Amino acid sequence: MTSTHANVSNAALPVRKAVFPVGGMGTRFLPATKAIPKEMLPIVDKPLIQYAVEEAYAAGIREMIFVTGRHKRAIEDHFDTAFELEHALETAQKHELLALVQNIKPDDMQCVYIRQPRPLGLGHAVLCAESLIGNEPFAVLLADDLMVGDTPILAQMVQAYAQVRASILAVQEVPHAQTKRYGIADVAGNTEQLAKVVGLVEKPEPADAPSNLAVAGRYVLDSAVFDAIRNQPVGAGGELQLTDGIAALLATQSVYTYRYEGRRYDCGNQAGFLAATVDLALSRMDIAQDFKAHLRAVVQANA
Ligand code: G1P
Repeated sequence: MTSTHANVSNAALPVRKAVFPVGGMGTRFLPATKAIPKEMLPIVDKPLIQYAVEEAYAAGIREMIFVTGRHKRAIEDHFDTAFELEHALETAQKHELLALVQNIKPDDMQCVYIRQPRPLGLGHAVLCAESLIGNEPFAVLLADDLMVGDTPILAQMVQAYAQVRASILAVQEVPHAQTKRYGIADVAGNTEQLAKVVGLVEKPEPADAPSNLAVAGRYVLDSAVFDAIRNQPVGAGGELQLTDGIAALLATQSVYTYRYEGRRYDCGNQAGFLAATVDLALSRMDIAQDFKAHLRAVVQANA
C-alpha cells in the first residue's frame, strides 16, 4: 500500500514536529506506575516527559504530538494550564514558581494528543501520528531515554539533518552482550559521526548482531517511514517495530546513524533511573552541595 503523498520529496522541509510515544504500560516501574504514567516519574523534580519535550523545543520544534493510551491523562494535565495553581502562586507572589509552571508549555508550543488504541508496538505508535505529520520530516523521542548534552541531542541531529536531508538515528556503542535490548545498526565499519546505514535489526542476540552500534531513543525520520512501517510483518516481541520500518526504508533511500555528543540514561530501568537522578541532582546548583556531602558519607560508610 502506498499513501497519496509518497514519491513527493519532503527532504527540504525543516523538522517542525515531534512524536512522543507514551502509550506503554511501564510495568518495570510497578508499583509506582500503577496509577501514574511512567513518563511522569521525576528525575529530581521534573518528569521524564518534560525533559524530552524541552529537548525537542530546543531543537526548534514547536508541535508536540503525544501518542497516548489509557491512564495517561496526567501527561495532558502536565502540559495544560493549571489555572487554580497559577492563581494561587500569583496571589502568594511566588513569581519564580509561577514562571516555572507557566514555562512547562511556552505560548508558541502546541501539544496534540492522539490515542493508540492497543499496545501493538513502537512502530504502530508512530503510525498513529501519521495523519498529524503528513508529508514532512519529523522527530521521534522516547522519553525513557533521558539524553543530556552541552548541545541537546535532538538539536545536534536536526543540524545533521540539514546536512544530509535523510533519516537519522541517534546511536551509541553498547557492550556486545547487550545487543538484545536495542535496535542495532550496521554501518559497514564506518566510525564517522554520521554514517550510512546498510542494515538494521531490532533486538538481535549478540551472536546475530551486525555490530554493537545501538539505536538510542532519538530519531529524525522521513515521512516515507509510515508506508514502510505499515508494510512490515509483526516483528520482535510480537510487535510492529519502528526499527523494521526504518530498515525497509533502506531499499529506497539513505538512512544515517549519528553518534551523538552527550550521555544517555536508560530511565526504563531502575539503575539508569537512579544514575540520572544522582547526576542531574549533582548538576543542580541548589542541590549539589548538600547532596554531594551525603553521597560522600554514603561512599565512606560503604567503603
Ligand atoms: C526501543 C526501540 C529500540 C531502541 C530502544 C532505545 O526499544 O525499539 O530499537 O534501541 O528503544 O531505547 P524499547 O526500549 O522500547 O524496548
